[in-house]
Amino acid sequence: MRFLKLLGSVAFTSALLASCCNQEKCGANKEGNCDKGNCTKVNQTIETIKTRRSCRIFNPDSMPSKEVLAQIAEAGTWAPTGMGTQNPIILVVTQKEMRDRIMRMNAKVMEKDSIDPFYGAPCMMIVLCKKDNNLTVYDGTTVMTTLMLAAKSLGVESCWIHRAKEEFETEEGKAILKDLGIEGEYEGIGHVALGYAKGEIPAPKERKPDYIHWIE
Ligand SMILES: Cc1cc2nc3c(=O)[nH]c(=O)nc-3n(C[C@H](O)[C@H](O)[C@H](O)COP(=O)(O)O)c2cc1C
Repeated sequence: MRFLKLLGSVAFTSALLASCCNQEKCGANKEGNCDKGNCTKVNQTIETIKTRRSCRIFNPDSMPSKEVLAQIAEAGTWAPTGMGTQNPIILVVTQKEMRDRIMRMNAKVMEKDSIDPFYGAPCMMIVLCKKDNNLTVYDGTTVMTTLMLAAKSLGVESCWIHRAKEEFETEEGKAILKDLGIEGEYEGIGHVALGYAKGEIPAPKERKPDYIHWIE
């Protein structure tokens, strides 16, 4: 009898757990939020958006795996583009020689030859966009953001590094594209420095109170 009671109580607890958000059969609705009473499940996408921070101290010796980098880059290809042109392209730079070459080009644009604008990141993705219409910058920035969020979701830190436009307007920048067999006119949109943090990433600023204006 006691055994049957125990069995019953185990079955009851299991049934309760089965409706818990951390279990397979949780009550998550299509937005990914669980509508069960004492739910602890958070929307992972929103959590990733809110916890991504610019990293400015990378461990230069810790390169994300090729599989992880491929997932990040592939996620970038799903970013929206105006009229669905898929005009942007993504260069994934893991080769140290090229990484350092781009670093020098970038520092030169800033006229600060002695600094590393990539904060020691061992890898970078460079987004460029074909100059086919007037949406170039918009299209490129959706890819940039998607890459950073995908990176965060996979535990890889990132930082948007600017001045890609100036870099790829130079003869050296154009030659890099030509050597890769990339033809046509491209505008540099930005670099995403990628890697793992070495130390703490500072906390973000509070969001300004007048960011959102409702019109109801
Ligand atoms: C268009 C753009 C250009 C940026 N350029 C640089 C840059 O060259 N170097 C840098 O350290 N951060 C750069 N950032 C990162 C911002 O400084 C950073 O996003 C901002 O300070 C907010 O911090 P958070 O990313 O941690 O939220 C850039 C961001 C954007 C959107």
